[in-house]
Amino acid sequence: KKNRVCVVGSINMDVVTTTRKMPKQGETVLGKDFRTYPGGKGANQAVAASRLGSDVTLIGAVGDDVFGHDLLTHLSEEGIRTEGITVIPNVPTGVANIILTNNDNRIIVAPGANHHVTPEVVKQHRKLIEQSDVVLLQLEIPLETIAYTVDLAYELGNDIILNPAPFQTLPEHILRKVTYLTPNETEAEAMGLTKLDIDIKHKIVMTLGERGVHFMKDDMMIPAFSVPVVDTTGAGDTFNGAFAHQLANKQPIEQIIRRANAASALSVTKMGAQGGMPTALEVEQFLTMYPKS
Ligand code: RIB
Repeated sequence: KKNRVCVVGSINMDVVTTTRKMPKQGETVLGKDFRTYPGGKGANQAVAASRLGSDVTLIGAVGDDVFGHDLLTHLSEEGIRTEGITVIPNVPTGVANIILTNNDNRIIVAPGANHHVTPEVVKQHRKLIEQSDVVLLQLEIPLETIAYTVDLAYELGNDIILNPAPFQTLPEHILRKVTYLTPNETEAEAMGLTKLDIDIKHKIVMTLGERGVHFMKDDMMIPAFSVPVVDTTGAGDTFNGAFAHQLANKQPIEQIIRRANAASALSVTKMGAQGGMPTALEVEQFLTMYPKS
């Protein structure tokens, strides 16, 4: 049986400009290159899990425009079930404006249709959540939808992974029902890590970029793999999608994190959020280069 992951989250078109120099306030610079790439934290995480072999459903929304239709086609080509994706008229598809230099990236997300992923939309697709083992969420859709989905998934006995990005303050009753929280360092700090009670702290899998991942419950550090970096956009999403895939496969936590680290390392070696996301075979081949696989 293929393991089922249901992602409830955002779908964006990433419009990416590369430049040698980041413009300052009021400044215009000549850039290097421009391209569009499929993105959005929800879609990225769905693609990461699907490439690894999970059976993935995405609940989300796009606008009735060129970006929206292109993204829908792209997601089906990635093998993702798209029946949970609503096309919303008169609203633009979500867009992330990304400026990339050699050592920096700056992103503005215009949510567009992602704002319209309401609790009602999730309610309509309840069946997709019922049929899943793992439910995976981020914070690029309305908070009330996150709350509704977490309540529903908890009631249905699903494992729930919540990636608190981009950061918003979450009510404690949501945190209690989640199985794993996957903040990066900045998000963990914003959550008030030191003040969190022990039950919530123990759910935290904190990603620390090239320093690896800290699983708080066992106070375990799982090192990252060092690779030549081309584009770190989507590295966290690859980690989360891979984490969900491994969790649906009922792997032990150390294995889950190690493989998610490998997937995420491979993802930064290519341009675009979804560019380097690996297949399961590519992850296994990559791990054979490291002794403890
Ligand atoms: O996490 C990376 C993603 O964040 C990008 O693909 C962009 O769409 C923003 O949502």
